[in-house]
Amino acid sequence: MKSIVMAALVASAVVAASTFPQEFYGYIPQNVAYNSNFFYAIRGNSNATFRQSAPLVLFLQGGPGATSLFSDYLETGPEKLILSSTAPGGYALVEREHAWTNHANMLYVDNPIGTGFSYTDDPRGFSTDDNEIANNLVDFLTKFLAIHTEYATTPFWVFCESYGGKMTAYFGAALAQAIAKGSISVNFKGVALGDGWVDPIDCMYSYAPYLTTFSQVNPAQAKEITQMASYAQNALEQGNGTQATNWWGNQQSYISLVTDNLNWYNSLYYYDYTADNQLDVFLATNFTQKLGNTIPAGVSYNNQSNDVFAYMGGSFMKDGITQVKNILDAGYQVNIYTGQVDLIVDVDCMNAWVQKLNWPYLDAFYASPRNALQLPNDLNAGGFVQSANNLTIWNINKAGHMVPLDNPPYAELMMATIVGSEGAKDIKITEQDKAAMREGPFHRRAAKTSAKRGV
Ligand SMILES: *[C@@H]1O[C@H](CO)[C@@H](O)[C@H](O)[C@H]1NC(C)=O
Ligand SMILES: *[C@@H]1O[C@H](CO)[C@@H](O)[C@H](O)[C@H]1NC(C)=O
Ligand SMILES: *[C@@H]1O[C@H](CO)[C@@H](O)[C@H](O)[C@H]1NC(C)=O
Ligand SMILES: *[C@@H]1O[C@H](CO)[C@@H](O)[C@H](O)[C@H]1NC(C)=O
Ligand SMILES: *[C@@H]1O[C@H](CO)[C@@H](O)[C@H](O)[C@H]1NC(C)=O
Repeated sequence: MKSIVMAALVASAVVAASTFPQEFYGYIPQNVAYNSNFFYAIRGNSNATFRQSAPLVLFLQGGPGATSLFSDYLETGPEKLILSSTAPGGYALVEREHAWTNHANMLYVDNPIGTGFSYTDDPRGFSTDDNEIANNLVDFLTKFLAIHTEYATTPFWVFCESYGGKMTAYFGAALAQAIAKGSISVNFKGVALGDGWVDPIDCMYSYAPYLTTFSQVNPAQAKEITQMASYAQNALEQGNGTQATNWWGNQQSYISLVTDNLNWYNSLYYYDYTADNQLDVFLATNFTQKLGNTIPAGVSYNNQSNDVFAYMGGSFMKDGITQVKNILDAGYQVNIYTGQVDLIVDVDCMNAWVQKLNWPYLDAFYASPRNALQLPNDLNAGGFVQSANNLTIWNINKAGHMVPLDNPPYAELMMATIVGSEGAKDIKITEQDKAAMREGPFHRRAAKTSAKRGV
């Protein structure tokens, strides 16, 4: 595979709204009184014929407060931001081999309001709980489909990551309800919850056993870690979500301290291993310039993102298990995917909350066969998949929290299979993929900075 360094974006014009656009950026008002507006990006395949028949995939990033353009440029979009010692600023864009635009029109939304390029002029414009986020997203989708009418019957999926997992659970349940009431018309197929923060308390309890097995803590430290989980649980049970979030923060600090900054998103690394900082610079400079007047005067990248997390502090630790069940009950597909070496939402956490799904087909799911995933030119299994009655669990090997960043070919295989893409059969693992998975996605180790963007 050859990597083509693309021409600088600055000079290229923003594509005007057209049907099934290859590239489009815009704002959709959420609340006029507060001047609250959602920013969104549509990214598609270069094949216009393909775009007309491709499904629409909304991607929601986590935090809360992390831009969905993280997924566009570092995980799934047609252009990949890479570290480059020879490029200005130390970063460059190249074509992404395993782009999800090979199989879908991607829709990246900066959500909730205040995230990335989305903004509000009023403190009341910020969301303070997951139901509010879900209702705002239903409103966004209604308005989006009224503008981009060509997607009226297009199969619609929601993929996500991290805190996006909880927001997608709430959104999926709210969307199913809105469809049942007839207040929105959309060809909703289902969701794929990626390393989702669906039950935060389960995650807090999962760290001690995970870190012990991974030889990162001793028994005394494990005990301390579990104690903080119980403090958070008590606070939540007493109705003090903010205090529960504080205990989560304390537990995170303690774990980082005793593990010498084990990376929260991939436990094979310490400190940061991504191009997070370069992405922030790229979005605040090149990308902002490229969009020109699309971004209103006074609005800047990530200006309100810390506020987004703060306003959600009381809801951050609440779970979304019932909402996942509601999506299944309404007859939509639920996929759950998780990276093998994710720490922040590790496999034990995912297994713990899935067991709490009070869903009549859960036993049938556990009794169903579990199959290895293997691309035709790979020697080893890339993960495992198990599926029954519209619930599918994907365990992806050689990946942490950011599954498509760490394991691009198997993330693409999973995504293409979920949306029913004919292109799924053509996916191959390249020599470059194999090298990247040996060395890490950016061939960078132990840069002594720790990037952290919530979950
Ligand atoms: C473009 O997409 C259409 C529909 O999927 C396909 O039939 C056609 O072969 C594609 N063209 C190219 C050049 O890949
Ligand atoms: C970003 O902008 C700088 C300054 O104009 C330019 O030199 C560089 O090539 C751009 N990088 C990308 C990836 O667009
Ligand atoms: C919740 O706990 C915090 C301490 O973390 C405290 O300041 C606050 O008063 C508590 N709120 C309620 C409603 O008890
Ligand atoms: C956001 O922008 C406003 C107005 O330009 C400015 O006063 C404020 O300091 C900015 N906040 C951050 C976090 O950059
Ligand atoms: C699975 O989904 C289909 C529609 O996609 C629905 O008809 C069926 O009832 C669902 N099955 C269960 C067990 O919910």
